[in-house]
Amino acid sequence: MLSRDGAPMTYLPADDSALLIDVLRDYKGEACLEIGFGSGAVISSLTERFSVAVATDLAAPQGETDAKGLFLADRASCFRDRVFDLVAFNPPYLPSEGIDDRAVDGGAGGVEVPMRFLDDALRVLRSDGKILVLLSDSGDVQRFLAHATRLGLSAKERRRKRLFYETLLVFELSRRD
Ligand SMILES: C[S@@+](CC[C@H](N)C(=O)[O-])C[C@H]1O[C@@H](n2cnc3c(N)ncnc32)[C@H](O)[C@@H]1O
Repeated sequence: MLSRDGAPMTYLPADDSALLIDVLRDYKGEACLEIGFGSGAVISSLTERFSVAVATDLAAPQGETDAKGLFLADRASCFRDRVFDLVAFNPPYLPSEGIDDRAVDGGAGGVEVPMRFLDDALRVLRSDGKILVLLSDSGDVQRFLAHATRLGLSAKERRRKRLFYETLLVFELSRRD
C-alpha cells in the first residue's frame, strides 16, 4: 500500500508484531538489529535489554514514534559483517504474485523476501548470535527452513499462535557447529 506521496504505508503493530515482541522478552545482550521496523514497536521493546538496538526499513514511520536507532536502508546493508548478537524480523510474508506492497508481500511462496532477509541477517550475525524470525503457515515455511539448513543454520520453533485464518510461528535460528 502506498501513501499519497508514494512512500510505503507504515505497517501498524498486529498479532504478529505482538507475538514476536513476547518471544523477544527472553533475549538480552550487547547489540541487536531488527530488519523492517514498521512503526518501531518491536525495536522499542528491545532497547532496555541491549546496549545497542538499531533497526532498518525502507521508509520512515508515519506518525509519532519513540523508537531510536532507525536507519533507512535495505535489510542489513548498512552494517558490518558479524556485529550483532541478535537479528530479529517479522518480514513481509504473504504469498503474492509480485511485490506491490513492501510491508506484506513476501513473493510467490510467501518466503522469497523472508529468505533474502535471512541471507543478510546471517552476514551481520556474530558467530554465536541468534536470529529470531516470525513466519506464517500461509507461506511455504518448509522451504524457508530448508534454505536456513543450506546456510548452515539449525532452527528451533519457539512459539506458535493459531489465528482463524493462519498460524503464526516464531523460530530461533543459530549456526550449527
Ligand atoms: C510485516 S511488516 C513488520 C513491521 C514491524 N516490524 C512489526 O512487526 O510491526 C514488514 C516490514 O518490513 C519492511 N521491509 C520490506 N522490505 C524491506 C527491506 N528490503 N529492507 C528493510 N525493511 C523492509 C516493510 O516496510 C515493513 O515495515
